[in-house]
Amino acid sequence: MIVAKPYRYPVSRPRRLRRTSSIRNLVSQTRLSSESLVQPIFVDEGLTSPKAPIESMPDQYRYSVEGVLGFVGELLDAGVRAVLVFGVPSEKDPMGKRAYSSDGPTQRAVRSIKREYGDSVAIATDVCLCSYTDHGHCGIVVKRGSGYVVDNDETLKLLARIAVSHAEAGADIVAPSAMMDGQVGVIRNALDSEGYTDVAIMSYSAKYASSLYGPFRVAASSKPVFGDRKGYQMDPRNLWEAVKEVEMDLAEGADIVMIKPGLWYLDVVRIVKESFPEVPLAVYNVSGEYLMIKAAALSGYLSEDEAVLESLNAMRRAGADIIITYYALKASKILSRVAR
Ligand code: PBG
Ligand code: ZN
Repeated sequence: MIVAKPYRYPVSRPRRLRRTSSIRNLVSQTRLSSESLVQPIFVDEGLTSPKAPIESMPDQYRYSVEGVLGFVGELLDAGVRAVLVFGVPSEKDPMGKRAYSSDGPTQRAVRSIKREYGDSVAIATDVCLCSYTDHGHCGIVVKRGSGYVVDNDETLKLLARIAVSHAEAGADIVAPSAMMDGQVGVIRNALDSEGYTDVAIMSYSAKYASSLYGPFRVAASSKPVFGDRKGYQMDPRNLWEAVKEVEMDLAEGADIVMIKPGLWYLDVVRIVKESFPEVPLAVYNVSGEYLMIKAAALSGYLSEDEAVLESLNAMRRAGADIIITYYALKASKILSRVAR
């Protein structure tokens, strides 16, 4: 019989705790449940059918304002109780007016979801301009010198209007994603002065300028028509800047902070969780990450269910409390079916 040499602990056979799934579950350090998951939802005000497939994201759909209710019902049945709403307008202009009109796609969807399901679902809304502006940038574009820039402080005024209009429609959480400096503080002030002191802010604090947003920009029709977002989103090469961004957002009043994307940024997730363990930390498992698993699964060479659980567990293990993922519904169904 071979006996391993004892090292620090007298336990010489770690396999004892790997023997059955019930033992493995008992000793697992990471717990994944549908309660941590948030499903992003695209609401397209121009859609005439209840839902339409998103060509860049197999098995994902855009919903009409009416069609979204059925999907939320399905999520609730599966145990997913949080959504992140993205509106897709049928008209765009330089100022992104449909983003802050009371009958905009997000506002209408939020109102009808709240009317139907009340507080059994937590509704977060994306607060940005890129789907609503004709140039596709996350703010107001102005000419400066020989080129164009996104004007930070002009954009802040509109972000505050968007957030208030979402709160007025019934959003529980607003999620500013424009990466404008000071956006959390301006939104907190605006919400408070309009009486929405109970509406929480989930800030996209460390949002990197990532290649992984490509499929989303098709879904939300938010691709910039010129330039890129490197002037406002974070440089993927930077780690510690994320800690600074999170700290600034907390000082401005963020209730939940977010890292985005997820899987290529788990070092950031870890460092932010360790720096601010008391703050709920969300991770956005973005469209490109979804597509990587989906495309690999469609090749037939890996198990989608296993890849989904493994990747979500990786984000939880790194320190994510909340995971925003296009796999929320599917993961929830898998979790209720399989012993991990
Ligand atoms: C922009 C925004 C983006 C995503 C959500 N809101 C990124 C971008 O276009 O720069 C990406 C989400 C995803 O890829 O799933 N406000
Ligand atoms: Zn944007």
